[in-house]
Amino acid sequence: MAREFSTVGVVGLGTMGAGIVEVFARNGIDVVAVEISEPALERGRATLKGSTDRAVAKGKLAEADRDALHERVHFAVGLDALHSVDLVIEAVPEHLDLKQRIFAELDRVCRPETILATNTSSLSVTEISVATTRPNQVIGIHFFNPAPVMKLVEVVRTVVTAPEVVADVEALCARLGKVDVTINDRAGFIANALLFGYLNHAVSMVESHYATREDIDAAMKLGCGLPMGPLALMDLIGLDTAYEILDTMYRRGGRDRRHAPVPLLKQMVTAGLLGRKSGRGFYTYERPGSPVVVPDEATPLATESALADGARAIAKVGVVGSGTMATGIIEVFAKAGYEVVSVTRGAEKSATVCEAVKTSLNKGVVRGKLAEADRDAALGRISWSATLDHLADVDLVVEAVIEELSVKKALFASLDEICKPGVVLATTTSSLPVIDVAMATQRPADVVGLHFFNPAPVMPLVEVVRTIRTSPEATATARAVCAALGKTGVVCGDRSGFIVNALLFPYLNDAVKMLEASYSTADDIDHAMKLGCGYPMGPFELLDVVGLDVSLAIQRELYLELREPGFAPAPLLEHLVTAGYLGRKTRRGFRDHSHR
Ligand SMILES: NC(=O)c1ccc[n+]([C@@H]2O[C@H](COP(=O)([O-])OP(=O)(O)OC[C@H]3O[C@@H](n4cnc5c(N)ncnc54)[C@H](O)[C@@H]3O)[C@@H](O)[C@H]2O)c1
Repeated sequence: MAREFSTVGVVGLGTMGAGIVEVFARNGIDVVAVEISEPALERGRATLKGSTDRAVAKGKLAEADRDALHERVHFAVGLDALHSVDLVIEAVPEHLDLKQRIFAELDRVCRPETILATNTSSLSVTEISVATTRPNQVIGIHFFNPAPVMKLVEVVRTVVTAPEVVADVEALCARLGKVDVTINDRAGFIANALLFGYLNHAVSMVESHYATREDIDAAMKLGCGLPMGPLALMDLIGLDTAYEILDTMYRRGGRDRRHAPVPLLKQMVTAGLLGRKSGRGFYTYERPGSPVVVPDEATPLATESALADGARAIAKVGVVGSGTMATGIIEVFAKAGYEVVSVTRGAEKSATVCEAVKTSLNKGVVRGKLAEADRDAALGRISWSATLDHLADVDLVVEAVIEELSVKKALFASLDEICKPGVVLATTTSSLPVIDVAMATQRPADVVGLHFFNPAPVMPLVEVVRTIRTSPEATATARAVCAALGKTGVVCGDRSGFIVNALLFPYLNDAVKMLEASYSTADDIDHAMKLGCGYPMGPFELLDVVGLDVSLAIQRELYLELREPGFAPAPLLEHLVTAGYLGRKTRRGFRDHSHR
């Protein structure tokens, strides 16, 4: 018989606690909500009210249900109010000594059979449990932010947690409409262990002026389909909480340098920039607690002013190459009204590319997204050539040939001889240093990276890579062109992986290492990232789609350039590639796709 939970206690009504109260009360469970002081209690009450009022306004909650929800919540200052609850969830700040003190006190106040749970993100549940006389009834119940929305709960059992306590808590999660993954007590559990290295890395990109906050966030949203960018997420989590989580993970998780909090984070916390809750973090908010971002001194000016930045006028564009990327890029430019000169290595190749562009444009017509006249006009704007000489009068060249440095360098040397002065020369390389290509010309100031994503006609993001020799005008031109294509251009420095791959692949690699360590299963890890963090695909789903060989190559490049030990490719990834399990394309990767 599963235990009945009719009343639960929540300690700490901050970012997480207030949301956890709502989750229980929404599901018909009485809640005793406890804070440290009257003002803190009032804040918690206001957060709950704000959240449920928003749910009513959005039509997600009936007014009567909201009122009933509030009636189920009893607010109190001090832990004594928790004497007769069936379960307590603690959600106070991420400090071990504080949590241990609270658990010792809960142990004294609560009935002997009460389950004591912590919502810690990174501290050892075991260490918290030994502050009580009932460590077998202590468990981690890790909700995700915002608790009423995110479906995932990580249930953390220690070596002494009683199996029936685990089973009861799992049943409770199901009653709350949550999906749980049950795991052992390890720093960061599943989701945070995979998330925080990525978040910290994104902060380091801001700190080193590698890219702006807006561009980093846009890159991850548009390039990976994430619900929010890493810096907006840091603001939502709270920078103080994020700092503590990183610090704990660094100390508990094998001193992985990637978890050593970036100094900027500590400075921001000290300066009171805690994120949404204080009204300012990486972004500035309308008021403390508000999700509405308002402009501040770091907000970029609207793109209309690009011309003022020295962007050059572009009318005619050359695209070199005949592969998937070149084909997509030709289509994108032609559709956006540019005159396009396609250069391939021969008439046959040109014919193939021309067919592919036609087919793709026709699909648009069939789907009703493109008028026939617009298709014809787009095709009419493209001329097909097998010689670079036809690029003598273009304003921009986009190179999308094979990913080999020698080939690209030779090509750029030729472009340098053929193209008129002032042309912006762009490479779509995804892994080679743009500066190597730039230095093959006599005009490195005019060379940029334009990293389109596949399929180019669909993906809304382009990374604009500026080298240490790229002129501001060339960068402004590239960015303005992206805007004219209807894409978001994000500007970053010339480092391996640019923004998206540098942030994405180490996370995927970490997921493989977690699987390799038998900490969890591929299914649970995929679940955790989808339901806990709102990712469109779990890491193993994504690896199988991208291809394990491609992923390994990118990860190797990152490791070689940045020499970060944590970036070393997971041996399991190498073995799967050696075994020919490359993902969907070979019908087997992390999963068997032969029957799908
Ligand atoms: N922020 C997140 O995204 C997130 C997600 C999952 C889990 N967590 C974890 O949840 C816990 C709480 O984090 P948070 O972000 O909600 O922190 P927070 O700072 O927003 O809120 C903590 C609350 O605890 C209260 N408090 C402090 N001492 C107390 C005491 N002795 N008795 C009662 N209340 C007390 C504070 O007044 C504050 O309201 C942490 O362990 C954190 O790691 C956070």
